Amino acid sequence: MNKADNNIVKNYQKKVKLIKKYNKFYYNNDSPKVSDAEYDKLKREIIKIEEKNKFLSKFGSVKNLVGSEPSGKFKKIKHSKPMLSLSNAFNKEDISNFLKKINNYLNNIKMKIEIFSEPKIDGISATLIYENGSLIKGISRGDGETGEDILENLKTINQIPKNIKDKNIPKILEIRGEVYIGKKDFQSIKDKFANPRNAAGGSLRQKDPKDTAKIPLKFLAHGFGKIDPMNFETQSEFINKIKTWGFTTNPFNKLLKDIDDIEDHHSRIEKMRSSLDYDIDGLVCKVNNIKLQSRLGNTSNSPRWATAYKFSSEKASTKINDITIQVGRTGAITPVAKVEPVTVGGVVVSNATLHNEDEIIRKDIRIGDYITIQRAGDVIPQVVSVDKSKRKKESKKYVFPEKCLCGFTTKKEISKTTKKEDAVRRCLRGFECDFTAREKLKHIVSKEAFNIEGLGKKVIDNFWELKFIRKPSDIFNLDYYKIQNLEGWGLLSINNLKKAIEKSKNIVLDRFIYSIGIRHIGQENAKILANFFKTPEKFSVLFNQSKRKKILTNLEELDGIGFTQVESIENFFSNNTNSENINSLMAVLNISNSRKINRKGKFGNKNIMFTGGFEKMSRSEAKTLAENNGAKILGTVSKKLDYLVIGDTKPTRSKIEKAKKLKIQIINEKDWYKLLNR
Ligand code: IVH
Repeated sequence: MNKADNNIVKNYQKKVKLIKKYNKFYYNNDSPKVSDAEYDKLKREIIKIEEKNKFLSKFGSVKNLVGSEPSGKFKKIKHSKPMLSLSNAFNKEDISNFLKKINNYLNNIKMKIEIFSEPKIDGISATLIYENGSLIKGISRGDGETGEDILENLKTINQIPKNIKDKNIPKILEIRGEVYIGKKDFQSIKDKFANPRNAAGGSLRQKDPKDTAKIPLKFLAHGFGKIDPMNFETQSEFINKIKTWGFTTNPFNKLLKDIDDIEDHHSRIEKMRSSLDYDIDGLVCKVNNIKLQSRLGNTSNSPRWATAYKFSSEKASTKINDITIQVGRTGAITPVAKVEPVTVGGVVVSNATLHNEDEIIRKDIRIGDYITIQRAGDVIPQVVSVDKSKRKKESKKYVFPEKCLCGFTTKKEISKTTKKEDAVRRCLRGFECDFTAREKLKHIVSKEAFNIEGLGKKVIDNFWELKFIRKPSDIFNLDYYKIQNLEGWGLLSINNLKKAIEKSKNIVLDRFIYSIGIRHIGQENAKILANFFKTPEKFSVLFNQSKRKKILTNLEELDGIGFTQVESIENFFSNNTNSENINSLMAVLNISNSRKINRKGKFGNKNIMFTGGFEKMSRSEAKTLAENNGAKILGTVSKKLDYLVIGDTKPTRSKIEKAKKLKIQIINEKDWYKLLNR
């Protein structure tokens, strides 16, 4: 080794020794010797030296020493089409509603809607992209929008074809499916993992594909992302074709023609469930016709054309030891039965929801009662029935507390539209109530909101108790030195948390609006509001009491935002603590203007309103079609309106009169179809 190299090695080893020392301080929960910034600087310096002097690799790498963030292990890749989740159905009525909604959306088309059903495997979803028949990309689901490049690991799976030989293969073929471990194969590795699903996930995310190959993973194909050119008409045709291309599909997939067919098949599969070599938790029911699938489209998270029909939930008997209340993020008070711990479907349950006061009265549920509870999928266990024969004579009716856990009186609100009293009691103090605030914080960090990995509900509870996080902006001003002294936190997890929090500071306006948890403002409404306000600056005008009024009147013009939403926004911001908290949160964030919505197309930059029903489509589909062609949909007639589209079925006279007065162009049903080339 020459002298220059020798010096490099010396300098390198000195720095590595230092960082090892720092690591020790972290791991041994001692007081840290350097600031985080200094630590990071040193780490960067070492990595730089390593990169410049490849010969240093024989000494190992600092990257391995401190371990890299797990989610940074793989390259991120944006999905061509989002990987969505599925809505759930638990019984015949839910399935009937699913079918009805489809019919309503398509506006009772005369056509019979065929359903393609597939067993729902409890595995890990992945997507495979083939270009001219060769596998070129393999991506994990990630958050649905962006996944991780796990191609090399996926390639170790035998059931994934690497090359497809067929003249008629589409140029781009994206196959989606489920990676899983068979129950038998799981037996040999069961000591290392909690369940087959965890094992499959862990194995797929190994850094070294050789480690993935050690575990016998399988792949079942069930769907598609981008296909170009697309020449499938139905899901069943797609599934049959990909079988000939070498993909494994489920032999219990079946085309079903009506609800009775679905019921029969569902109970048949449920009966054979335990004999299968993989875990299934229901049947996925998909509209078979792909054109209808695209007409139906998606809601925020799940397609309208598919649902998961879960198998019946498992039941168990137990006793109510106590009834307590829980406060939700909107202040809703939910009674909870504390029950004698009992195993239901492999999980120990000690809490069951009692929904609300009315439910307790209706079922006359009391402390000390013997009850049957059920647990379906990932939903909270529920009380199904009370065995009154076992009730003691001295048992007393349960009196629902009128006060929140914070000590303030709760209210049942009266709906301004229906004039009916709400079944739910609420604490209306927002962030001023510690119990509501804690739940609001859990909502803020959740997947659909800020999506902060490593900061889940349990951590929020822990940090709340320790007074590390009491208001939203605290999340972004955490003192990591205090955290590192806590049990369960190491250098790696702290670094990951820091990165995840830092990353989440960049947020788009609609996601931000959803995150702050205004009651009645879900993801869809948040999008509408973000498109209205456009920038965070304009949104902040809501903090100003005198200007808020005018804005709120304007908001009522938007289709989708009604009196209920406007009132809720007013309630939220008129509470000073809420306003202050959101204001200080905004100060630490980089909120970007909302995703640009498409305002190009046939109705580019035009404001459209609909009244009356159409024969060939539902109002929702008409709205979506107009929006996809650049329109903004309004909910009231005003000078801003460009077109009023009138359906033949019961249009509102007064709206037409007003539009005529304001000389707004009126489009009838026939012309509407013409404009859409239908
Ligand atoms: S369809 C767009 N089909 O279930 C519809 N999903 O809860 C979503 N899954 O992430 C996918 N078996 O991982 C579909 N036959 C099947 C499935 C299936 C299992 C998983 C999939 C998805 C999750 C949705």
